[in-house]
Amino acid sequence: MQFLVLGAAAGGGLPQWNCGCPNCNDARTGKIPSASQSSLAVSVDGNNWAVLNASPDIRMQMQACPRMHPRSLRDTPISSVLLTNGDIDHIAGLLSLREQTPFTLFGTSEILDLLTANRVFDAVNAEKVSRRSVAIGASFMMLSNLEAQVFPVPGKVPLFMEGETVKTDLVGEQTVGVRLSDGTHVAYYIPGCAEVTEDLLTTIEDADQLFFDGTLWQDDEMIQSGTGVKTGQRMGHISISGPDGSIAQLAHLKARKTFIHINNTNPVWQPNSPERAFVLENGWDIAADGMEIAL
Ligand code: MLT
Ligand code: MN
Ligand code: ZN
Repeated sequence: MQFLVLGAAAGGGLPQWNCGCPNCNDARTGKIPSASQSSLAVSVDGNNWAVLNASPDIRMQMQACPRMHPRSLRDTPISSVLLTNGDIDHIAGLLSLREQTPFTLFGTSEILDLLTANRVFDAVNAEKVSRRSVAIGASFMMLSNLEAQVFPVPGKVPLFMEGETVKTDLVGEQTVGVRLSDGTHVAYYIPGCAEVTEDLLTTIEDADQLFFDGTLWQDDEMIQSGTGVKTGQRMGHISISGPDGSIAQLAHLKARKTFIHINNTNPVWQPNSPERAFVLENGWDIAADGMEIAL
């Protein structure tokens, strides 16, 4: 199984269009690498690829990766796309994939219903791009040689669907993780997760590779940095640090572990930060655009 990180950043990207935080400014001047929005490509044979989440940056992401280029006049190496939630950073890229080239679009019923309810997604012609709803726990083939299953992960409905009150640790079809297996290795992709539960720990026990929500270093990071008013918990994202954070909660897992979906405020973007050093010392990688991992 091989992975290509198309976009390592969380919604907004690094730099984010309206953000003048130190990380975003450093990315603008090239002092630190930029990162595009949340997406991961996976393949077994290196020819046919599945894309996990279609970010608003998908056009540039594909341009930057020769293996994503068409191999003939009208073509794509992308056989399928899977959505892990209905957030804008994971669905808006579908609109760039609207030019009548077939692929299969996988998602839970609840996530696909969001697309059906919004007619702008009719632009992705359902006669060419078949929408296949996948049930929690049921196996399906994302590629002819790649088996997948989705499982619920604590999270919330997309920001644009929030009502008066918001439950941020819903466990159901609105936020899922993905298990991928080529018969030899097992990988998990969980770009959004509010909490590491016992169920989740049991699910990912057999991981060789884990891609996991690295949105924030600490829960009040947006407040502390003056960039926002919400905590990570309110946004449905667990933090990396702290006793309830992902490093502590997943310490025992014997998989290779990679943080992905990293917010632009996160200090781990800075090459010489103590936070980045801490992450690496604890056996985690930090995703970057263009990063390749082969199992
Ligand atoms: C998130 O991951 O929390 C969302 O992408 C936020 C957003 O929609 O901007
Ligand atoms: Mn996001
Ligand atoms: Zn910023």
